[in-house]
Amino acid sequence: MRNSTIAAIIGVTFITAAFFVWWSFTHEPKGYQMVFADSTANEHYWVPPDINTLPDNDSGKLIRYGRDLIVNTAKYFGSKGSVIANHTNGMNCQNCHQEAGTKIWGNNYSAVYATYPKYRARNGTVDNIYKRVNDCFERSLNGKALDNGSKEMQAIKSYIEWLGHDVEKGTKPKGSGIYEVAFMNYAAAPEKGKVVYINKCQSCHQQDGQGMLAADGIAYTYPPLWGQRSYNIGAGLYRLSRLAGYVKYNMPFGTDFTKPQLTDEEAWNVAAYINSQQRPDLNLSKDWPKIIEKPVDYPYGPYIDSFSESQHKYGPYPPIVAYLKSFKNN
Ligand code: HEC
Ligand code: HEC
Repeated sequence: MRNSTIAAIIGVTFITAAFFVWWSFTHEPKGYQMVFADSTANEHYWVPPDINTLPDNDSGKLIRYGRDLIVNTAKYFGSKGSVIANHTNGMNCQNCHQEAGTKIWGNNYSAVYATYPKYRARNGTVDNIYKRVNDCFERSLNGKALDNGSKEMQAIKSYIEWLGHDVEKGTKPKGSGIYEVAFMNYAAAPEKGKVVYINKCQSCHQQDGQGMLAADGIAYTYPPLWGQRSYNIGAGLYRLSRLAGYVKYNMPFGTDFTKPQLTDEEAWNVAAYINSQQRPDLNLSKDWPKIIEKPVDYPYGPYIDSFSESQHKYGPYPPIVAYLKSFKNN
């Protein structure tokens, strides 16, 4: 074949292909864009940026300070906190947002910058990053909110934004947040979870679940899982699916999603055991202002269905899911 003929064939092929790409982007039904984002853009697990690449200027310093606040929260806000003493229960953000909020399925912050501000059903409002961080201060750390203008809040926000700056707006990278463990067809059982706890958790978190403080008496070597120094009843981990998902891919400490140590059932049961123990209270009267938006595993009524609080807390969830589906379709 002559060169000009080859060029013509390539040209026509290219134009045809380009046309089809254009056509498929403009003529597909709406849902397509989401499928596309899930199947290609998020094919690979998120890779956090390297903290060592930060410049040694004011903004670099603020971001580093933010990271330190996530890792060593107790030092700044615990019982002897250097910024505000007794502002929190003495836990570190990192106790639940592992590796400074960068670990795959370790409740990482990869999606925060890309998805906030966003509507959150728990508050019934569009929340920014300040509000979301303060929710964890007030619930997971059972403490008080920080002023948005404080250096510490600015640092935490800068760090979280920097972590997620490469993530496409409106998307969640693969491995972000907490893993969703498949629902079981029967209820999670606290008494079976107690056996898992004794065998696989107690050596660090202790028999009474109160964890263990480091010798300095400031930070926890092993954080508490229940009792007065633990997260309160309004915290995310008080929902069984959040706790089971966190535990499945992160506990016993040292585990990650490539080598889970617990079966799904063990994760649900040990979560049920932990969340059947006593923990701090919180006024929840303003939470979930739209009842229909309550998650199936939210343990307090009222509900739009007639399943008990106990079934919402421990499952089985599939009947509730099925009911909600039929309710929303009608
Ligand atoms: C006791 C555990 C715990 C502690 C301690 C904790 N958090 Fe959280 N945090 C959670 C849970 C659970 C979620 C909700 C995750 C979910 O539902 O997928 C969450 C969510 C968040 C989110 C939103 C993540 C997203 O992708 O939407 C941010 C931001 C956040 N926490 C910041 C913090 C900061 C900052 C601290 C420390 C001041 C902190 N958290 C301490 C458990 C904790
Ligand atoms: C080898 C010690 C060790 C074992 C065993 C262990 N943990 Fe942990 N756990 C930790 C440490 C350390 C952290 C804090 C992680 C961090 O700060 O990076 C933690 C954090 C947690 C948290 C979040 C913080 C909190 O206190 O609420 C939960 C929940 C948890 N562990 C549950 C479990 C469960 C359930 C088991 C058993 C299946 C278990 N752990 C076994 C050491 C351990």
